[in-house]
Amino acid sequence: MRSPTGVARLIGSTVEIFPVPEWLSSTLSGTQFGSLRRQYIRSTGGKTAGATKETTGATEPVLEYSIRMNPRAFTTPGLSLAPTGAALGAEIRGLDVCELTGAEFAAVHRAWLDCSVLLFRGQHLSDADLIAFSRRFGGLDWAPIQETGRRFVEGHPEIYVVSNVIENGVPIGSLGSGEAVWHTDMSYLERPPKASILYALEVPPSGGDTWFCSMYGAYESLAPALRDRISHLTLKHDATYNSGGYVRQGVTAVDDPVTSPGVYHPLAPVHPESGRRVLYLGRRRNAYIAGLPLAESETLLDELWSCATRDDLTWRHQWQPGDLVLWDNRSTMHRRDPFDPDSRRILHRTQIQGETVPAA
Ligand code: OGA
Ligand code: MN
Repeated sequence: MRSPTGVARLIGSTVEIFPVPEWLSSTLSGTQFGSLRRQYIRSTGGKTAGATKETTGATEPVLEYSIRMNPRAFTTPGLSLAPTGAALGAEIRGLDVCELTGAEFAAVHRAWLDCSVLLFRGQHLSDADLIAFSRRFGGLDWAPIQETGRRFVEGHPEIYVVSNVIENGVPIGSLGSGEAVWHTDMSYLERPPKASILYALEVPPSGGDTWFCSMYGAYESLAPALRDRISHLTLKHDATYNSGGYVRQGVTAVDDPVTSPGVYHPLAPVHPESGRRVLYLGRRRNAYIAGLPLAESETLLDELWSCATRDDLTWRHQWQPGDLVLWDNRSTMHRRDPFDPDSRRILHRTQIQGETVPAA
């Protein structure tokens, strides 16, 4: 491995290397650039004695740092990637997700890991198409049971319907029209899905925007002492309530975080594909940090949550019919704004199986 020739500049909690060595920039482009630059910096890990805090003029080595995810926009024939400019998210233009070649899929997969959330507009998908595209990422989980006890779309147990629409007195989907609070999908499972894909069929004229938050950024924004403190802690991810506040099917509501049903995961696992650490919070309600007195768990969780949902770590998506949004469920959380209950909103979701359990 070559040694760094530039200096590292501290920007907030992230460091960028300047100048980017010519050998690196000349061989890479787009999202590749982002990921390889990260590898390069990590490989010098904690030992970059030459790195100085230029912003403060101080000369002490930067011993702990990470690189801001900043993939460059790029265009190749038939495909372009436009980062949102926020801490996460990019739009991919020029692709019909039903017709991806192997090379296009590889580019999408790379961009998904680098940007955590991808938006494709103007798609025309049947449920079978949505499933076929989703399967390219891995096996699919069956959808959670809807609040009504209804299981899924007839013939497609992989599809979860997110909707406020009521037909013949019965809701056709879950989550209603209220706010869906910040959460990660299905983290109450031992092995939560690694990705979710949401496809918009009908959307209201306003409201119902979905927000995403970078849990890489959340982890990186924590003070070193706080990172140390959580490094060996595990957190219970509640299985009682869904993000709309509804009790899951077959569960008796328990509002004591210590005894409520759920599964424990590390608070700061390493993302199995990027190698970067995330803050893994799942959802706030009934969350409980193993082994702590409840009051202490609550205080620490409040502190962690206030870091996780800061504006500069989020990106907001305003839906149009035909939008398909794919997110990395290990490096993000999401929430949804409420919308007019008299308007119609219908989205279909798939969830791609995790291949590993979250591990610190
Ligand atoms: C989901 C979800 C939010 C939304 O489908 O997992 O949280 O925008 N949906 O409806
Ligand atoms: Mn969700």
